[in-house]
Amino acid sequence: MRKTITSILVAALLASSANAQDTPEKYRPQFHFSPKAHWMNDPNGMVFHNGTYHLFYQYYPEAKVWGPMHWGHATSKDMLYWKEQPIALYPDSLGYIFSGSAVVDVNNTSGFGKDGKVPLVAIFTHHNPVLEKQKTGRHEYQSIAYSLDEGKTWTKYSGNPVLPNPGISDFRDPKVRWYEPQKKWIMTLATKDRITFYSSPDLKKWSKESEFGADAGAHGGVWECPDLFPLTHEGRQVWVLIVNINPGGPNKGSAGQYFVGDFDGRTFTPYSKEIKWLDWGADNYAAVTFSNTGNRTLLMGWMSNWQYANQVPTDPWRSANTISRELGLKAAGKELYLTSIPAKELEAIEGEVVSKSEIAVKAPVQLSPKGGNASGLFRMDFKTATADDFELVLSNKSGNELLIGYDKASNQYYIDRSRSGKTDFEAGFGQKHTAPRLSKDSGIALTLVADVASVELFADGGLTVMTDIFFPDTPMSDLTIKSSKGIRLRDLRYTALKPSME
Ligand code: FRU
Repeated sequence: MRKTITSILVAALLASSANAQDTPEKYRPQFHFSPKAHWMNDPNGMVFHNGTYHLFYQYYPEAKVWGPMHWGHATSKDMLYWKEQPIALYPDSLGYIFSGSAVVDVNNTSGFGKDGKVPLVAIFTHHNPVLEKQKTGRHEYQSIAYSLDEGKTWTKYSGNPVLPNPGISDFRDPKVRWYEPQKKWIMTLATKDRITFYSSPDLKKWSKESEFGADAGAHGGVWECPDLFPLTHEGRQVWVLIVNINPGGPNKGSAGQYFVGDFDGRTFTPYSKEIKWLDWGADNYAAVTFSNTGNRTLLMGWMSNWQYANQVPTDPWRSANTISRELGLKAAGKELYLTSIPAKELEAIEGEVVSKSEIAVKAPVQLSPKGGNASGLFRMDFKTATADDFELVLSNKSGNELLIGYDKASNQYYIDRSRSGKTDFEAGFGQKHTAPRLSKDSGIALTLVADVASVELFADGGLTVMTDIFFPDTPMSDLTIKSSKGIRLRDLRYTALKPSME
């Protein structure tokens, strides 16, 4: 018997368990990481080690607003179910523990390894509030710490800082990777309005290699949280340099830009002058990649924006991260772009999958069952026959609507959260965000991932990405596809996603 799309959806959605939507925690995501309580910003030191993904993060354990920074810690086997661990790094006499990275020092270049135990080494910025008040301009410098017990306990190096401040007021967020051809570590550091590359044989002694970017890319704000990594494109190694910037993003506030080019162990040379954005939504900041993940390159960002991060109406925590995304490269026209798609691990929390082909969207097509998907957690994928206008409406019983769509006239995707619920906590929050369609393909491929108070849109195989958070008065329960011109969906796939959190 052929079941209708609605009856299958009802079954799939009833099967997914309920979440905490009527408690004060009603905005807490169910498969994105967020701390149980208190303030979080940037993901830090993300590393895969002995079968476990480690996520450290900027954390203030005493309040729901930014404060003296620690490194919080969570671990996961699948980047979906995260277990919060004791705080990894506390502020000390050298300062707060700002953002940075972690590496597995397989060859024990640092000498921190003992009895055959491979050290995990964290490289972070010490931000000294006393020096900051004195306006010395030298209050940020780089330090290291190591762990020999799977990231549980950390020892700070007695020779800290390993990279003193040369007189640059914004001097932070070291991202370190091993550069095999020259057998040395490379540190990519944000230095105000540019990137400075350093190298080291042992993570302790650092020498300057080069600078990049004073005259390249977007400069509407300070450069922060960079990352440098290789990807393979058509059999050739290509380097990607991510530079987060705040403010100055394409839809205001914080955002991530990137450059594609060559790196020879000393110098980064971009292929083009075009400004490229990792994510055009308002809520993917400080995104960097995990280290030690072999052939996969996995990215995760902080799902907020400095414009309103301290005001979002969540309790008793503030902020979540994006889902983990697998990165690739794709050419469109003359340019080479980064692509981001959901890491395949997400499939593990899919409910029953509803697939349909060749649907003509003339009248609105309701994707959720009668009564709605009470959990607001789902993944939807479709491909359209042509690139024509459509709009996805995420709505609830309170009359809130989040609009996600494509506008052919401007060749733009958009997310409009102006009527999505609570928006008045910050003047600029309730706005429409737009992103160019970069793909030249005739039809549109779209993936949408929703989790209570966030949507992540991956268009055209991840060429255009948008991440936005929103705060509906009651759970978003209904998803409807509309198209004034009438589009044809070649394939439609919809599944509720199951909660996966502590
Ligand atoms: C980016 C950032 C970093 C800094 C950290 C402080 O969001 O400003 O540059 O290290 O947050 O919490």
